[in-house]
Amino acid sequence: MNQAFVLDSRGSLVAGADDRVDRAVALRAMASGRPARKRRVTYLPVTGGLLGARSRLGVLRRFAPLAELVLAERARLARDLHDSVVQTLYGISLGADTAAELLHGNPAHAGESLAWIKETATAGLSDIRGIILRLRSDADAGLIATLRNAFNTPGLHLELDADAVMSPPVEEALYRIALEALGNAARHAEAARVTVRLAAEGRRVVLEVADNGVGFVPSAAFPGRLGLRSMRERAELLGGTLDIRSAPGAGTVVRAALPAG
Ligand SMILES: Nc1ncnc2c1ncn2[C@@H]1O[C@H](COP(=O)(O)OP(=O)(O)O)[C@@H](O)[C@H]1O
Ligand SMILES: [Mg+2]
Repeated sequence: MNQAFVLDSRGSLVAGADDRVDRAVALRAMASGRPARKRRVTYLPVTGGLLGARSRLGVLRRFAPLAELVLAERARLARDLHDSVVQTLYGISLGADTAAELLHGNPAHAGESLAWIKETATAGLSDIRGIILRLRSDADAGLIATLRNAFNTPGLHLELDADAVMSPPVEEALYRIALEALGNAARHAEAARVTVRLAAEGRRVVLEVADNGVGFVPSAAFPGRLGLRSMRERAELLGGTLDIRSAPGAGTVVRAALPAG
């Protein structure tokens, strides 16, 4: 399957590689909503884009959820960049205008605007670092090394079981799940303490991210939000499960259990 690739809704290559991509045929498949085939390449429409490969349709269908994840992650990245980078730069530019005006009319207050600019830039920097961290593929460094390095943060506790050995795809999936769960704890939980536990349980590897924050109702609908969904899809794609235990005021535990592979 190394010739598989994912195209977005405009027919641009988003992941994978294949020099035989025929954009016209791909876009036709997308418009009709039905698979198309040309030069031994099959194009299969999925939500928000296309999955293509030189392989039989049945094989391709099994990989469709993966393509949807890639496309969803891309849309999410665009949203994150908009929410943080664009808003931050806009805020800084407004703050600079205000500071410039105050310098003439009311110089004593210009310092407040400058402090505000500094604060906005610092918050923006930390957002961007978070986005880059999520994008970086740390498959080489390994899940445990990455967790140790990236989250050497006060309030974050790691309990890593040295027996937790897993295949690279499982490691990559757990890494992404850990980043999403930690990102959620940081963004939504207002927790004083977050514990990440990685352990071998029989033939499974279990990752638990627990916070003592505000909690939420996991069965509620979160329209337009993809994080919880993509964690579950990643786990299920590799034959695993994802459970979220949470309630308002009671903290949150995200538990992914995957076959070690
Ligand atoms: N650890 C958590 N603590 C409190 N609320 C959470 C936590 N994780 C998720 N949530 C709630 O679930 C919603 C959906 O999460 P998610 O699908 O990851 O979307 P997003 O993080 O982009 O908002 C969040 O907006 C938040 O309200
Ligand atoms: Mg999230």
